[in-house]
Amino acid sequence: MSAGKGTTVRFDPAGRLKGSIVPPADKSISHRAAMLGGMATEPVVIRNYLEAADTTSTLDAMGTLGAIVQRGPDEIVVRGTGLRESSEVDGPIDVGNAGTLMRLLPGLLASQEGRSYTLDGDASIRKRPVDRVAIPLREMGASIEATDERYPPFTITGARLRGIEYTLPVASAQVKSCVLFAGLTADGPTTVVEPVPSRDHTERMLAAAGVSLHREGDRITVTNADELVLDTITVPGDPSSAAFAIAAGVLVPKSRLLVKGSGANWTRTGFVRILQRMGGVVLGELEDPAGDGQIPGVEPITDLDVAHGSLVGTVVEPHEVPLAIDELPLVALLGCFAEGETVVRGAEELRFKESDRIALVVDGLRGLGAEIEATEDGFVVTGTGGLRGGTIESHGDHRLAMLGAVAGLASREGVTVVGMDAAAVSYPTFTEDITALLRR
Ligand code: S3P
Repeated sequence: MSAGKGTTVRFDPAGRLKGSIVPPADKSISHRAAMLGGMATEPVVIRNYLEAADTTSTLDAMGTLGAIVQRGPDEIVVRGTGLRESSEVDGPIDVGNAGTLMRLLPGLLASQEGRSYTLDGDASIRKRPVDRVAIPLREMGASIEATDERYPPFTITGARLRGIEYTLPVASAQVKSCVLFAGLTADGPTTVVEPVPSRDHTERMLAAAGVSLHREGDRITVTNADELVLDTITVPGDPSSAAFAIAAGVLVPKSRLLVKGSGANWTRTGFVRILQRMGGVVLGELEDPAGDGQIPGVEPITDLDVAHGSLVGTVVEPHEVPLAIDELPLVALLGCFAEGETVVRGAEELRFKESDRIALVVDGLRGLGAEIEATEDGFVVTGTGGLRGGTIESHGDHRLAMLGAVAGLASREGVTVVGMDAAAVSYPTFTEDITALLRR
């Protein structure tokens, strides 16, 4: 592997990957920890906060809204303003590239009676729809004005909110979390109905903060809270970041890896389960779904033992999609190496991520020699036992950059990734961590 000009990095075919790797801290949980810290009244200590571009945007945003953020060597302390007392802000709040910040924060801003806040971000953020959060927040009483009715920059004016029952048109943890945040100050209960389960970090953290929150089947109900009481939040390793090392370990011959301290929350381990179904050797203690009505108060972690092995194609069904949403590009890559066909269905949401991940994964992998077709709601890959290699462009999407890198390690001729710096939004040490596994 050698760094080229600018942000172009070449990933040569790897002999083997060996050793252990600690994935970076979970991005989703870090965002929520910073936001809940800002919404709490007593100081919240966050251990193992993700130090990356996206989550720095969230800490900065909470600072702009009046929280005091103290960064120490081992922990961050956030002294928040409470649920209803965010500061007035001059000018837009910059969310950078962070879609989770852009979609969750409006839930808090909608509660700031009579105050207006504008959110804006980078070029990719300006293409990501916010009408999905605007619709329920308006129903709760807030006013929202968005560019062309659905894009950032957009302005939220807070109000005294009323509780609603909102059925998500598409499973989305971001929209669910936004409505639950707004429900914390609404008059009467707020219920979110999910078509299928999505990641539940917000529910776990709110329950741990003493909020009255219940799940019954597909319905999650929150009631008005005076304050959030949180003490220390320890962020586990990110299963979505770990997935890149896991895929590399399975695809590169003779590899054997130990992935340490990855989150094992069942709403995040869909990728590992899909990979196991394809015959991949990945062993660990994955959490099982909780019984009806239960919200676990903790985020479990596990080590994962990964070894190279052959794979067979599989069909990823719509109900599995939210549990592996950010890892579906990797499923496409695994499909290139698997025997038979690999199909992903019901994943149209991929078109609204940091890039159109159906179009760009299909174009990108095809450019490396894959037999892959886009469908309306996913893709179909025909396994050919390997991948030639070539050049792939990240288009500023961190997960496409890392996908190209893993493809290169497992390819016959290597892959040049143009725009590898995009990885910094979630995994700033990715290239170094992979290099270390090659040296052993
Ligand atoms: C996230 C939820 C997912 C995921 C995103 C992070 C979150 O988005 O793709 O990277 O932290 O809630 P959707 O909930 O919109 O599918």
